[in-house]
Amino acid sequence: MNTKNEILLSQFIKNRDELHQPDPQAFAAILKAVEEASGKVHSVISRAGLVDVLGAAGSENIQGEQVQKLDLYANEQFIESLGACNHIAAVLSEENDEIITLNDSGEYLFATDPLDGSSNIDVNISVGTIFSVFKRKRKGPVEKEEFHRHGYEQAIAGYVLYGTSTVLIYTCGKGVHAFTLEPSSGEFVLTNESIKTPQNGNIFSVNEGNYYTIEKGIQDYIEHCKKLNEKGKRTHTARFMGSLVADFHRNLLKGGIFIYPATADAPEGRLRLLYECNPIAMIAEQAGGLATLGKKRLLDIKAKEIHERSPFFTGSKVMMNKALSYLD
Ligand code: AHG
Ligand code: MN
Ligand code: MN
Repeated sequence: MNTKNEILLSQFIKNRDELHQPDPQAFAAILKAVEEASGKVHSVISRAGLVDVLGAAGSENIQGEQVQKLDLYANEQFIESLGACNHIAAVLSEENDEIITLNDSGEYLFATDPLDGSSNIDVNISVGTIFSVFKRKRKGPVEKEEFHRHGYEQAIAGYVLYGTSTVLIYTCGKGVHAFTLEPSSGEFVLTNESIKTPQNGNIFSVNEGNYYTIEKGIQDYIEHCKKLNEKGKRTHTARFMGSLVADFHRNLLKGGIFIYPATADAPEGRLRLLYECNPIAMIAEQAGGLATLGKKRLLDIKAKEIHERSPFFTGSKVMMNKALSYLD
């Protein structure tokens, strides 16, 4: 197979500095750290079962969820790589109750879900890493309140999907770009520049196990998706993997909607604002889609707590507008 004319992530940033403003050098270093850590996570995931990374670590995180061994491994790799890049002052991770301070003179803050889709690790289904970067407003030791920012202030947002191949998707506010890991060299190679999501689609992604615990408007939208057309054929198809990254990535490329609303079990929503919803929302908007927490634009929310949760709706414009029309 032809693998000539490959553009590596580092080359892409260097050659296209207009896409990486206002700080291409720092962005290159931060993305290099993401590349390095996710390469290590990829290697371990691809050998899971052969190396001891499956199963629970035997502890719970601040969210009261069982921590998996791979959650911890991924978290350690990201903190280590970011610590060496010098530009990151502190990391907020799903796996740490408090922020991890790295370098007081770093100009950026990094928020991450190092391993998204933990429930899928042991059964060989795609998982991901999600990340978000803010520019600091001051210098010196970091207070956790510095993470209380609006989503629209993100400087970089992205995710890595460890799927049938491993892909890194990110935006610095000027389009969404995708790179695929070449495992033999450990390099991420440009495979899709300026991704645009379809304006419409037919995939709806919602955990219907929550059906009787969610608001009536969303139930009605789900019923709308299940309606047959005049020829008696289905109009939509349902897909829900339980890995936000994988569900979102599929819908980004094919057209669809992902909804994780407030439920009886999770009245504030299940997904975390700063390291799950915000970065995915920025990617969605940059690709021409929408992201909300109901009727309101998600990126307009200012975080009040580092591990805050939020309802989350994201996807193709036409489907999103239809879904939102069912809400009060
Ligand atoms: P994490 O593994 O980081 O805790 O995230 C899991 C999230 C998300 O990836 C997924 O969309 C959602 O939880 C699934 O939750 P349900 O099992 O409640 O559907
Ligand atoms: Mn997650
Ligand atoms: Mn996680």
